Amino acid sequence: MRILSGIQPSGKLHIGNYFGMMRPALELAQRGEAFYFIADYHSLTSVADAAQLRANVVDVALDFLACGLDPAQTVFYRQSDVPQVTELAWILNSITPLPMLENCHSYKDKVAQGITASAGLFTYPVLMAADILIVQSQLVPVGKDQKQHIEVTRDLAGAFNHKFGEVFQIPEPSILGEVATVPGVDGQKMSKSYHNTIEIFGDEKATRKKVMGIVTDSQPVEAPKTDLDKNIPLQLLKLIVPAQAQAAEAKLAAGGYGYGAVKKELADALLDYFAPARAKRAELVLNTDYVRDVLRQGAARANAVANETMAKVREAVGLR
Ligand code: ADP
Ligand code: TRP
Repeated sequence: MRILSGIQPSGKLHIGNYFGMMRPALELAQRGEAFYFIADYHSLTSVADAAQLRANVVDVALDFLACGLDPAQTVFYRQSDVPQVTELAWILNSITPLPMLENCHSYKDKVAQGITASAGLFTYPVLMAADILIVQSQLVPVGKDQKQHIEVTRDLAGAFNHKFGEVFQIPEPSILGEVATVPGVDGQKMSKSYHNTIEIFGDEKATRKKVMGIVTDSQPVEAPKTDLDKNIPLQLLKLIVPAQAQAAEAKLAAGGYGYGAVKKELADALLDYFAPARAKRAELVLNTDYVRDVLRQGAARANAVANETMAKVREAVGLR
């Protein structure tokens, strides 16, 4: 089974990204032939700073490799190393009904967030369809927010096959993070746009400070605590060490155990959980040649597949 997913290189990954997307995607990668890429073309719709974009790409590559992406098993590449996707995006644009894009809520959401309403932002789902279809992916793991884009991809693949003959595999979405939306330190969904994140690779001091600043209600230490299903430190602890979280919940409910103690447990658990990844990242940072090599080899493998698909596409539409 071929699996494909992309992530925009837009800053430091947080534990919401990790538990909501990265960990399940890395698990899924073991069940098929996975193509995971860094969507730098897509990022051009929001980043207009070359040095920043390059640095973000390296950051995301380091984060994924440190968290366990195995480049021997997963084809890991940078989107712009497969520029054929832009050709396919143009061809797909030519058969994309405008209302299909007008219906996409992520365009409206992003414009509402203040991102410039460019043509690139509007046709973003078509480039995404090209990413998916060019490797003939069968399964696309994404967050809920991206589900509509997979629908667009399926519609475009179907329309293309109908007009020009069977070229594309119709992909299925696999929705990640449906079980849990990871809350941020203020209780809203953890998101870089809300400035409420706990980074995976923040240093120890910063991580402890963030954790100690998580909002809770103000029941005193000695009180038997109620309403624990809304308690954020406990929810985060559950993601990392479920058995320990259950024990902490019982202690809170019994009284005489405060939220400060749970936050301390959480900070320790977080630092412990990510310690191997942190050590691996520290090693990789010193060896960016290796990281570049991984991406280059991934690009070569992705290019081979893309060229095969594009030969069929050009033939089918009459471009040669
Ligand atoms: P952000 O909201 O910080 O900008 P992105 O939108 O770039 O994060 O998300 C990248 C991926 O991480 C998506 O697949 C998304 O579903 C997942 N993700 C982000 N935040 C969370 C969260 N708080 N809980 C679960 N998954 C999340
Ligand atoms: N749009 C996705 C996001 O913001 C990233 C992405 C680009 C992607 N191309 C893709 C995801 C293809 C899955 C498949 O999260």
